[in-house]
Amino acid sequence: MRIDLKGRRALVAGVADDGGFGFAIAKSLAECGARVCVATWPPALNVFEMMWKRGKFDASRRLSDGKLFDFEHVFPLDAAYDNLEEVPDDVRNNRRYAERGDFTIQGLTDSIRRQFGPSSLDIVVHCLANGPEVARPLMDTTRRGYLSAISTSAYSNVSLVSHLAPLMRQGGSFLSLTYLASERVVPGYGGGMSSAKAALESDTRYLSFEAGRRFGLRVNALSAGPYASRAASVTGMIHEVVSYYENNAPLPNRLEPSQVAHAAVFMCSPWAAAITGTTLHVDNGLHVMAKGLGPNDLNWLGLEQSVAETA
Ligand SMILES: NC(=O)c1ccc[n+]([C@@H]2O[C@H](COP(=O)([O-])OP(=O)(O)OC[C@H]3O[C@@H](n4cnc5c(N)ncnc54)[C@H](O)[C@@H]3O)[C@@H](O)[C@H]2O)c1
Repeated sequence: MRIDLKGRRALVAGVADDGGFGFAIAKSLAECGARVCVATWPPALNVFEMMWKRGKFDASRRLSDGKLFDFEHVFPLDAAYDNLEEVPDDVRNNRRYAERGDFTIQGLTDSIRRQFGPSSLDIVVHCLANGPEVARPLMDTTRRGYLSAISTSAYSNVSLVSHLAPLMRQGGSFLSLTYLASERVVPGYGGGMSSAKAALESDTRYLSFEAGRRFGLRVNALSAGPYASRAASVTGMIHEVVSYYENNAPLPNRLEPSQVAHAAVFMCSPWAAAITGTTLHVDNGLHVMAKGLGPNDLNWLGLEQSVAETA
């Protein structure tokens, strides 16, 4: 059984290199036959385009049939803004923005409608986050930093759903990426990012009801385990968190972006047609654990060594 997405169009918002979940999801969608567009943050777009042209991502672009996949289109997107009137002058006049036309969520919506027509999208993946004060404890976060984290990392998903839902075809699906820090305390995940992820998950439930009844669309979230992407490295703690998962999760393995991508493709495919409003954990099961493993815990289980050690 294969997931077949031929004839479907996907948009993955939040791809600027080949080292994060967005790229892995885009590649897996392409592997299943979907046409894939991406939306990229203007400050990262020049470097992304240059590296793409120079073939720096060619190894990552290779599909199982040996061919290199390509994006159908790369849109500029700053998900902190819904329309150009909201954009402060210093951003709008910044060289990296000024050359890109309308990079807001309204601009993205207009471009998709212009380019592909009024009923042209099947899958939208929100795979972006930004919290300028993520390295600060919540207690030391400014109002400005907190609101910025929520605006870019959570409200942007509400806005994408409300703008793009009218362009979605029957059976369409939205997915966003979240993290366990919304439910549990992960020291180091500060700046209001934990609050943003909690909002993202709550919004997923409300949006599933509203977009389900208004448009017949599904809205889900996927709570990924930690991976040392560019964004995650900003916290300065990612390697420690990755090791904690490997040592303490039910499946003591390193999480691969492709595993997150496969779950994402399933959630966006017709195989998940009755799943909406849910947050699916793809984290080797760590979310079910309420205690880190102590020296005697594996002995108690009748094991002398961890599975990782014996492999
Ligand atoms: N890496 C992890 O450990 C982890 C774990 C769980 C969830 N996630 C989530 O996965 C998603 C993807 O992150 P990733 O870790 O793969 O890192 P990443 O660096 O590949 O992706 C983050 C993207 O957000 C983009 N971005 C930042 N500000 C933006 C803005 N204002 N407008 C548009 N785009 C903007 C960046 O350019 C980048 O492409 C995020 O939502 C993240 O919170 C990551």
